[in-house]
Formats: sequence, structure tokens, C-alpha cells
Amino acid sequence: MKVLVTYFTQSGNTEKIAKAICEQAALNHEAELKKLEDVTPDDAAGYDMIFIGSPLHSGALAAPVKECLDAVKANPGQKMAGFITHFAPGYPEQDMNGFTEPLRTACREKEIEYQGCFDCQGALTESLHDMVQKKLNLTDEQWADMVKQMTGHPDGGDEENARAFAEKILA
Ligand SMILES: Cc1cc2nc3c(=O)[nH]c(=O)nc-3n(C[C@H](O)[C@H](O)[C@H](O)COP(=O)(O)O)c2cc1C
Repeated sequence: MKVLVTYFTQSGNTEKIAKAICEQAALNHEAELKKLEDVTPDDAAGYDMIFIGSPLHSGALAAPVKECLDAVKANPGQKMAGFITHFAPGYPEQDMNGFTEPLRTACREKEIEYQGCFDCQGALTESLHDMVQKKLNLTDEQWADMVKQMTGHPDGGDEENARAFAEKILA
């Protein structure tokens, strides 16, 4: 199977997961890792399976990822899965369903088989800490707990979980 792992990243977290997924895919398939900005709709049409990754931005997929999903070509038989990183420790299934809605809609409209979405924690870039702490209205203590929890993610365990996700889909 020809597999594309493509991703948008600003601080490297989603890229880390993309690499883990691509390494897993490359064990048994022809797998390529490409930044989202290097992929055209024509390129994307040439793969049997696409993993597309995004950081969570204000409770949604990042804008370039949504644009890419809009531009992707109808491709019956093609498969697609998502992966998302976010600073929050985890989200309820209901919220995840909201975040992945553009992915599922693109697949439905373009006759692409949706294969699910992986998500994990990814530390928030330090320059945004003050702003987010204020926005969430957290005390210094509460924020320190949150920072402690997110620091180091995605870690080896997150990468392992991402590999297991890819392995299951590609089996
Ligand atoms: C503009 C912006 C908005 C964000 N909004 C959220 C959010 O709503 N929920 C969340 O858990 N993380 C949010 N984050 C944190 C990122 O999703 C998280 O740090 C992610 O791992 C960054 O991935 P990257 O390093 O691949 O860019 C936001 C980050 C930025 C820059």
C-alpha cells in the first residue's frame, strides 16, 4: 500500500507523532512523510492511505488542515485517518467528535474511507503560557499543575500509542 503521512505543525509536537506513524507504516508499506504545505491535491490522490495530522487550535483543527481537507479530491477506495495533538490532558469522546467533524465530512463527501483519529497531549509552546493561563482563568498553582502534566509530551508512550494506532489501521 502507498501511504502518505502529512501534517501541519508549529512547535514540532504533531511532527513527532507524524514521524512515529510513518516509521510504523514503513515497516510493511511504501510510506512517505511530507509537511502539509508540500502536498498538492494531485499528489494526495496518488496514495492508498493518508494519515493527516493537526495541532488543536481553539478547539478545532488548524486552519491549513481544514483547507487541505476541503481541497482533497474525491477518491473512492482511498483511506484516511487523522492525528491530533493538544495541550489538554485529554478530551471526552463528544469533544473529539466535534474536532474530527471536518475530517469525517471530507471523507464522506469524497467517498474516502474514514479510519479514525488518534490524539495525544502535546506541550503548549512557552510563549503562550501567560495568555492561556489568563484565558482559562487558572491560578498560578492550577496552571503549574497543568504545565507539569503537559511537559515532555508527546513522549515515548504517546509515540508508542501512535504506532499502535497506525499498525491497527494498516493491518
Ligand atoms: C493558537 C493555538 C490555539 C490552541 N488551542 C488549543 C486548544 O483549544 N486546546 C488544546 O488542548 N490545545 C490548544 N493548543 C495547544 C496545541 O494544540 C498543542 O500544543 C499542540 O501539541 C501543538 O502542536 P505543534 O507543536 O505540532 O504545533 C493551541 C495552540 C495554539 C498555538
